[in-house]
Amino acid sequence: MTGFETRHVIVTGGGGGIGSATVRRFVAQGAHVSVFDRDLAGATRVADAVTEAGGTAKAFACDITDRPQVEQAVAAAIDAFGPVAVLVNNAGWDIFRPFLKTTPEEWQQLIAINLVGALHMHHVVLPGMVEQRYGRIINIASDAARVGSSGEAVYAACKAGLVALSKTLAREHARHSITVNVVCPGPTDTALFADYKEGAGNPEKLVEAFRRSIPLGRIGEPEDLPGAIVFFASDAASFVTGQVLSVSGGLSMAG
Ligand SMILES: NC(=O)c1ccc[n+]([C@@H]2O[C@H](COP(=O)([O-])OP(=O)(O)OC[C@H]3O[C@@H](n4cnc5c(N)ncnc54)[C@H](O)[C@@H]3O)[C@@H](O)[C@H]2O)c1
Repeated sequence: MTGFETRHVIVTGGGGGIGSATVRRFVAQGAHVSVFDRDLAGATRVADAVTEAGGTAKAFACDITDRPQVEQAVAAAIDAFGPVAVLVNNAGWDIFRPFLKTTPEEWQQLIAINLVGALHMHHVVLPGMVEQRYGRIINIASDAARVGSSGEAVYAACKAGLVALSKTLAREHARHSITVNVVCPGPTDTALFADYKEGAGNPEKLVEAFRRSIPLGRIGEPEDLPGAIVFFASDAASFVTGQVLSVSGGLSMAG
């Protein structure tokens, strides 16, 4: 798969595990990548590494829950690399605790990052895609959205909301040649999963339980995800929209 030469790709949460793997894969295929993260140091490390290796990427401070920051970062990214061709909404965050032990204040944080943040990104980036009559949006949800996950009630609700949002925007914007698809990771070895393991109390037992229940027999690695993400962004997927694909070693198998 090629064809991303000089196309502008924004990856939110691009400083994290799955985000940075995604940045590297797009850059390797010639894209110009804007690395958005609330952790500017993390985003800068990722952008600097790919730039040193001969690719094109730039870090932007962007907390997706903050609308003015989203507007400023998207404008600055367009100044740097031109109209946005591909948006990967990957930033996410979780609290791992049974629902009855969570507080309404924590729900607000979870909803702000995992749902409202993605709403801001769509709302700010989509008008330019409509104008261009072209766009590829890939939203990173979770298998928790499809089958539920103990200790992740509000997060799962947000990710299920992201799936429904994606299908609706896929319908609204098909006439503009904009596709919107969803990738659902399963347990994947990143900082977020490390927190999940800690929240579970007995990390080794949890990992072993996952290994036993994942047909392909292992926890995911960040590098397992970009293949599906890049596929949805590619010309090979130009007739694919509103779809949800799990990349979880077969943990969930949806018909
Ligand atoms: N790792 C897993 O097991 C797993 C499973 C299912 C889904 N996911 C999803 O995959 C995506 C990537 O997660 P990851 O596992 O790479 O985690 P990660 O913690 O390594 O990366 C998440 C990144 O998002 C950034 N971020 C968080 N809140 C932000 C905000 N408000 N604004 C901008 N950036 C913000 C963080 O700074 C971090 O760089 C998330 O959407 C997550 O929900 C992960």
